[in-house]
Amino acid sequence: MENFELIRLLGEGGFGKTFLARVLDDKLKSETGEFIALKIPLNREREEGLIKELITNALFNLKLRGMKHPNVVSYLGFAKFKEHYGMMMEYVEGKSLRQEMAEKKVLSVEFALAIAEGILSGLTYAHKAGLIHRDINPSNILIASNGVAKLTDFGISNILGDTESRYGRMGTGTFAYMPKECVKKGYKEGFYSDTYSFGATLYEMVTGKLPFVGMSGIEIKKMILEQRPAPPIFLNQEVGEGLSAIILVSLSKEPEQRFQTAEEFLEIIKEYRRNGKDVDRYIKKVEEKKEPPKKRMFVPTGGWGEEE
Ligand SMILES: Nc1ncnc2c1ncn2[C@@H]1O[C@H](COP(=O)(O)OP(=O)(O)OP(=O)(O)O)[C@@H](O)[C@H]1O
Ligand SMILES: [Mg+2]
Repeated sequence: MENFELIRLLGEGGFGKTFLARVLDDKLKSETGEFIALKIPLNREREEGLIKELITNALFNLKLRGMKHPNVVSYLGFAKFKEHYGMMMEYVEGKSLRQEMAEKKVLSVEFALAIAEGILSGLTYAHKAGLIHRDINPSNILIASNGVAKLTDFGISNILGDTESRYGRMGTGTFAYMPKECVKKGYKEGFYSDTYSFGATLYEMVTGKLPFVGMSGIEIKKMILEQRPAPPIFLNQEVGEGLSAIILVSLSKEPEQRFQTAEEFLEIIKEYRRNGKDVDRYIKKVEEKKEPPKKRMFVPTGGWGEEE
C-alpha cells in the first residue's frame, strides 16, 4: 500500500509537481500530520539529483530537516511514492505571492513591508545556518491564510545543480531575480545573492514590474549586467524615497554594495517601518552603502593608505 493519497495538484515548477497529499501511514502521520505538500521531480534526471543530495547526503538532509522557523516552510524528509522519490513539506493553506501579485498587480507598501519582514526573518535564520537559498522569487514565497509569509524550496537549487543549468531550465521568469554573479562566470554566489533576489521581489511587489524586462533571457542577462533599474518611486509615488533607495541598494550590481546578509536587510526594513518618515537621515545611511569600497594600496611611508 502507498503511504500517500494525492488530493490535488498545487502547482508545477522547474523542478517538479507539488501535490497536496494525505498521509495514510499512521507512524508517518504522527510525525508529519495528516496533510503534506508532496513534491515529485519532473523527470528521472531531477530525481537522481534529489537522491544524490538528500538521500546519499545525509548531513544535508539533516540540515534541511533541522530548519524550523515560522517563516520557513518545513521540509519533512524524502518519501517514496509509486517507484519515485519525492520531498515532503509542510502544507501551507493559502496562496503564493505570485498568485497574490497576479490578482492585485501592485501590492500596498504596508503589506509588502510586512511580507519583507517575515521573509527576511526566515532568510536570516537560514543564513545563520549557513544556507543560501539561490532561488528566491514570488512563487517560492507562500502567504498562509493567517497572513504569515513563508519561504519555501530551500535546497532545491542544490538539487538542480549549478546556476547555468538551473537557468537553462527556468526560462526568463526566474532569471529576472538573478544577480550578476549568477549570470556571469567568475563570480561567487553568496548570501548577498539572496538579498538581491529578495530585493527584486520587493521591487515587483511595490511597482508591479520586474527590475528588468526583456524579450529574451539573453536580453535580460545583458540588462542585469549593464543597466540600472528605474527607481521604484518613479513607477509608484506611494513608495517613499527611503524605501526606493533601500530597494536600489539591494539591487546593486556589485555584491559588496548590497545588503550582505538577510539580517542586514531585515534591520533596515524594520527601522524603515518604525522610522521611515525621517527620510534624509535614512537616505544618507543607505547612500553610504553605495560608496564604492576603497581600494587599498601600498604607500612607501611604511603604511597602508587609501587610494584617491
Ligand atoms: N508547501 C506548500 N504548500 C502549499 N502550496 C504549495 C507548497 N509548495 C508549493 N505550493 C504551490 O505550488 C506551486 C508550485 O510550486 P513548485 O515549487 O512546484 O513550483 P514553483 O515554485 O512555481 O517553481 P520552482 O520550481 O522554481 O520552485 C506554488 O506556486 C504554490 O502555489
Ligand atoms: Mg517552488
